[in-house]
Amino acid sequence: MNRNRPYDVRIFPDLASLSGSAAALIADLSRSAAVSRPAFTMAISGGSTPKRLYELFSSGPLRDAIPWAKVHLFWVDERCVPKNHPDSNYKLAFDTFLSRVALPESNIHCIAGELEAEKAAETYESDLRCFFRDASLPVFDLVLLGIGEDGHTASLFPGSGAVREKKRWAMPVYGGVPPLNRVTLTLPVLNNAARVLFLVASREKAGVVHEILEDDNPKAYPAGMVRPAHGLVAWYVDREAAGALTDVMMRKIKSVENKIA
Ligand code: 6PG
Repeated sequence: MNRNRPYDVRIFPDLASLSGSAAALIADLSRSAAVSRPAFTMAISGGSTPKRLYELFSSGPLRDAIPWAKVHLFWVDERCVPKNHPDSNYKLAFDTFLSRVALPESNIHCIAGELEAEKAAETYESDLRCFFRDASLPVFDLVLLGIGEDGHTASLFPGSGAVREKKRWAMPVYGGVPPLNRVTLTLPVLNNAARVLFLVASREKAGVVHEILEDDNPKAYPAGMVRPAHGLVAWYVDREAAGALTDVMMRKIKSVENKIA
């Protein structure tokens, strides 16, 4: 664990403002990358929290602010369902922005959820190795993560063997709600990212947010194990999910958006 680099924690009044700030950050990062590099690599999550952010990608000014031709899009996890299934993380992205922005088809690196989990994980890992040219580990410019009430992130669930994986980049897992076969990126990959952004909303997550951010991850929640050695980790948390943070912590958080009382 990297104890030298603290989390950058920001608290927002609601999911709309949190999503707007995340979108602005992603536009800035992708534009800076596009100036000097051939690609901006981003791995995204499923779940309900990032939906607003994804909708912003394809609406108004942001659709034109992000240099889509240079964005290479990956997924942190996927459910083993067909691409048109309501539980598909690819479908979430397709419906909210992929179908509306000028992202070249060849820049979309989705997980083949229609395959059996082991095969889908192997295929995804070989796609990643091909794209990252056999680097010892990929370095994503940005990884977008969510967190469950049980402390899972991506499809890394507490107690699952996938949390201990050291070699594989992508793994099959079974679990979650609904319990399904899934494919997830592993912690060595997440912990090699240049930047990780957690998006967290709703009061149900207040307890686990407090434990990870203030108690130093006492139960070794998978989300609390994402601490890239050379990367930045930011937590964008809405007021409800920040509801169990202590006054001491709140005073330490410099960027409390819109002066939350
Ligand atoms: C997924 C995820 C998962 C998600 C959390 C939070 O595909 O479901 O990648 O880790 O981010 O479960 O989900 P919510 O945003 O729905 O609370």
